[in-house]
Amino acid sequence: MTSRLVVVSNRIGDPRKVAAGGLAVALGDALSESGGLWFGWSGKVVAGGARGEGDLHLQPSGKVMLATLDLGSDDHAAYYAGYSNRVLWPVFHYRLDLAQFDDGYFEGYQRVNRLFARKLSTLLKPDDVIWVHDYHLIPLAAELRALGCRQRIGFFLHIPMPPPLVMAAIPAHDMLMRSLFAYDLIGLQSEADVAHFARYVETEAGAERVGGDQYRAFGQQVCARAFPIGIDVDEFQDLAQTPESIETRETLRSQYPLRQLLIGVDRLDYSKGLPQRLRAFHRLLADYPENRNSATLIQVATPTREGVESYEDIRRELEGLSGQINGEYGELDWMPVRYIHRTLARRRLPGLYRAGRVALVTPLRDGMNLVAKEFVAAQDPADPGVLVLSRFAGAAEQMRAALLVNPYDIGATAGAVQRALRMPLSERVERHQALLTGVREHDVHRWRREFLQALQAAERAPG
Ligand code: ADP
Ligand code: F6P
Repeated sequence: MTSRLVVVSNRIGDPRKVAAGGLAVALGDALSESGGLWFGWSGKVVAGGARGEGDLHLQPSGKVMLATLDLGSDDHAAYYAGYSNRVLWPVFHYRLDLAQFDDGYFEGYQRVNRLFARKLSTLLKPDDVIWVHDYHLIPLAAELRALGCRQRIGFFLHIPMPPPLVMAAIPAHDMLMRSLFAYDLIGLQSEADVAHFARYVETEAGAERVGGDQYRAFGQQVCARAFPIGIDVDEFQDLAQTPESIETRETLRSQYPLRQLLIGVDRLDYSKGLPQRLRAFHRLLADYPENRNSATLIQVATPTREGVESYEDIRRELEGLSGQINGEYGELDWMPVRYIHRTLARRRLPGLYRAGRVALVTPLRDGMNLVAKEFVAAQDPADPGVLVLSRFAGAAEQMRAALLVNPYDIGATAGAVQRALRMPLSERVERHQALLTGVREHDVHRWRREFLQALQAAERAPG
């Protein structure tokens, strides 16, 4: 009998519904194939709920049982808005300037991880395989072990692992890293992340490297490796054939028959480099006037983590910049920037991507970036669009045939967009073929298979 897969993540997506955010999309794809239990936050905040407590809800969704937990408002504020999104997210994306260290946040983070462990442990079977996801839940295995759980537990970090000296700015960094050693396997997005992890544990924790990917420290031994996440290419290409997707493409083509469309699709997050992207677009119009009245940027940006100040700031900055560009270059019959602050229905995405001549995927730092892969999967191989990709996205390690840019260099990014807009068909086809081959090879199924095989094979040995 094969073991049941138990996935744990803060954000739960109903596998049959629309979701924005790489984690929910990838796990929805992975779980709908194997079935299992998906445990996480319900998304509900209960005003005045007791600290460290929350109601558990069980709801089947196809082959998957969803188990979700409500959070009290204090817990949510400290664990999610506080430690996860005001400490770990900015620091892991190299934004020490945006981090707000607060002891109360860390206490709430530990409290909620303990709550997750307590509630989850009541649902576990002895031969379950547990797969924990992302920065919200780093200490979960240590909490489960403290309750006596002996199951195999793997962890996958969807966001970047920062270099050791950046990590060391977090007051509790040693406790965080120590708790990673309670897992049997640590998965990271890229080789650069593995190198940062290895350097941290060797220099800060005196870890010993035993064999290629085994590290021994804190009386434990753990395996750490790169498992680059991917998309479900066939599912995405099937979506491209839905009436909604075709209608989206046709509508854009008829609305912009003479325009070249540039496409951006992101959560409205400061890590995504959106102001820099708009500045590069502004520079394109300034330095290459042939694009005026022609190149049009459609930027769809999903609201996210509203209430955290840095997200309010980025929203204001973006609205200001798009207004400025439209005011400066717009004509009665042409608006250079169409900025949409909303989540687009997933069925419409392939149509939007396919209408694009160029995709702008220019994060300042990103664990992987699935939008880059979705854009490639959605293209017409006989007449594909061009991917302009930040060298600071994890995806850049694999997607070398994209036009790689430094998003901080506004002039060079504008130059790359100009090159993309003028690229001859033969070069577009050649680059796209190479990219699609890679996206197919490293798809979400391989990611899940390889991680779970490595987790089954991981030897749990005391250090
Ligand atoms: P992150 O996990 O940081 O949000 P990714 O690029 O890895 O970044 O994943 C984002 C996922 O969410 C993709 O599957 C993408 O299609 C989806 N998404 C992002 N923004 C939007 C949006 N505005 N509308 C619809 N889907 C979105
Ligand atoms: O993929 C990175 C990630 O942080 C996920 O962990 C998260 O679910 C997603 O982005 C969206 O963020 P949030 O869950 O805070 O809305």
